[in-house]
Amino acid sequence: MRGAGSSERKTLRIARHAVRLHRDTPLTWNHRLPMHLLGTQHINDAGHLEIGGVDTVALAREFGTPLYVMDEEAFRRKAREYLRAFRSRYPDVQISFAGKAFLCTGFCKLVEQEGLCLDVASGGELHTALLAGFPAERISLHGNNKSVAELEMALEARVGHIVVDNFYELDLLLEITRGRVQPQPVLLRVAPGIDPHTHRRISTGQVDTKFGFDVGSGAAWAAIRKAAEIPGIAVKGLHCHVGSQLLDTECHEASVGIMADLLAQAKQELGMEFSELNVGGGLGIRYLRHHEPPTIDEFAETVTGVLKSRLDDHGLRYPTLLQEPGRSLVGEAGTTLYSIGSIKEIPGLRTYVSVDGGLSDNPRPALYEARYEVVVANRMDEPHDRVVTISGKHCETDVLFPDAMITDPRPGDLLAVLSTGAYNYAMASNYNRFRRPAVVLVNDGRADLLVRRETYDDLVRSDVMPARLA
Ligand code: LLP
Repeated sequence: MRGAGSSERKTLRIARHAVRLHRDTPLTWNHRLPMHLLGTQHINDAGHLEIGGVDTVALAREFGTPLYVMDEEAFRRKAREYLRAFRSRYPDVQISFAGKAFLCTGFCKLVEQEGLCLDVASGGELHTALLAGFPAERISLHGNNKSVAELEMALEARVGHIVVDNFYELDLLLEITRGRVQPQPVLLRVAPGIDPHTHRRISTGQVDTKFGFDVGSGAAWAAIRKAAEIPGIAVKGLHCHVGSQLLDTECHEASVGIMADLLAQAKQELGMEFSELNVGGGLGIRYLRHHEPPTIDEFAETVTGVLKSRLDDHGLRYPTLLQEPGRSLVGEAGTTLYSIGSIKEIPGLRTYVSVDGGLSDNPRPALYEARYEVVVANRMDEPHDRVVTISGKHCETDVLFPDAMITDPRPGDLLAVLSTGAYNYAMASNYNRFRRPAVVLVNDGRADLLVRRETYDDLVRSDVMPARLA
């Protein structure tokens, strides 16, 4: 890998003294704690939360807080589960990780090693993947308003797919692929007109959306015809993505059916038999104890079951099935560690517990009213039975976790927030000129830095002092 200098990479080895209370148990409810312990999360004999064989208290000491902790094994297991679940049910499947959920150069290597493809949603994500040496032919470029520069970057890198979102992009591609010898493979993104049961800001498949060619108005149909006439591109198939954090499979069932019907219509009316169908991501994860998302097996059973039966009804050949999960691959693999600082009790009303991060490292509570389970990582052996309000340290009321059940908090305690692997680091900002936290990868008793903590100098790196003001 080019890029990050070796001095920036740090490795920590910590003795594995932990008592494996829950070893080899994929999911264990801990009834004294508001959490489920995943395969590599344990409580060690010091009463600390341990992830990937590393004590989180030691992690906080070594790397500081706030800290994003990524559990390598948890991600690898999910990747394998996805591949196995889909490939055991359908002849030709590619699983593509939606990099928007979590992306940095080091992580691209894990995605590559697990045999996944990679979706990128911007020039920045594409640059990251290419810098990491991710094979371009396994990359797809997404976006509803790709710039000419982004399209050219993708064409030059020879990415596997460009997922075309609108007529404007088809016009751009007509121009910039003129004279190209090898046509660029593309998929056409379709809005199947499904209203998913999820937060309105993460719904994308309904008619009223900025994404894709809609089916009902005939735009999808017109796009297929138009794209077929552009010599510089080769339309391999169709794409759809209906929404995110979906806790049932109804929407996927409906959208896959619509997509299969469209494939049939394209064959009948245009004589075009597409070889690929991408049905997006969207499978939800367990943020809270009572969330019960479908398992990957159940999800795969539904998607492949509906698809095969519709294709059979239409007498169509099975296209390659592409599935592009983000959250369900990395969400539960991530944990954020914060240090608790000031505690303010308003008698009879509320206790505010402030941590050393907030809105800038996790905007999801503010944006989507997202909820998380939190635990006191250095006192996991104590009952978590006190309700408090956890706030960040930004200059506004940035409540992170309104009704957190934790053990009686003290300044200096280590707070662990579970299931923060997706759309947390990825959505972090520098609001209030906070430095974005480090990301550390843990596995089998070791911890490796994936992203170093920003420095104050990083914050002013792009500032320009006009000469007349200096
Ligand atoms: N494919 C496409 C075209 C997408 O737009 C997305 C997510 C995915 C795949 C992956 O979806 P997933 O499996 O992660 O649900 N920032 C929001 C989530 C936005 C999702 C946008 N698209 C959040 O924090 O909840």
